[in-house]
Amino acid sequence: MIRLAVLVSGRGSNLEAILKAVAAGRVAAQPVLVMSDNPQAPALQIARDHRVPALGVSPRALGGREAFFRLVEDTLVDARVDLIALAGFMRLLPSRLVDRFRWRILNVHPSLLPAFPGLDAPRQALEYGVRVTGCTVHFVDEGVDTGPIVLQAAVPVLADDTPETLATRIRREEHRIYPEAIRLLAEGRLVVDGRRVRIV
Ligand code: GAR
Repeated sequence: MIRLAVLVSGRGSNLEAILKAVAAGRVAAQPVLVMSDNPQAPALQIARDHRVPALGVSPRALGGREAFFRLVEDTLVDARVDLIALAGFMRLLPSRLVDRFRWRILNVHPSLLPAFPGLDAPRQALEYGVRVTGCTVHFVDEGVDTGPIVLQAAVPVLADDTPETLATRIRREEHRIYPEAIRLLAEGRLVVDGRRVRIV
């Protein structure tokens, strides 16, 4: 069974969806580690409630980004992690980590990429005026939200949406497609072919 680590920064609703899917036997992965750059992240308690080892470290307390990511990398390697899922982890990974875990890092983003990468994607979608947005699970490469796309789901923008109501509706779809993408990867069914991901 693949060994799964999840990196989080905040709420942890995607983490919870993943851990529930694992507990229900829908995803053949063993969650071995949850790490956060925010020791106060509610996501860490969700991990502990599911009996998954959880570690929150502030980069500033360690002396900066480089030291933080060195600790992340060492911890992932020590835990013999096969797959890293970024779930609301709000930092760009160093290219060295991306390269070491090439096509073994997934991210979920709250837009239909390549539209609205980066921060505040639901707000960007509202401000642009699109009628449909959504969410994307993609492999992580060196760019910001640029890696090969695994799954996407569309979400309509409603007339009275605020960034918060839209983000909440998008998250519901994330909770469906993120565990599904991890299941496919865990079953060895994702093949990266240039920019395209084939589901075999
Ligand atoms: C999710 O909507 C995720 O797509 C987004 O943060 C939220 C985390 O929620 N990620 C990004 O914007 C990354 N660029 P959660 O902590 O409840 O899973």
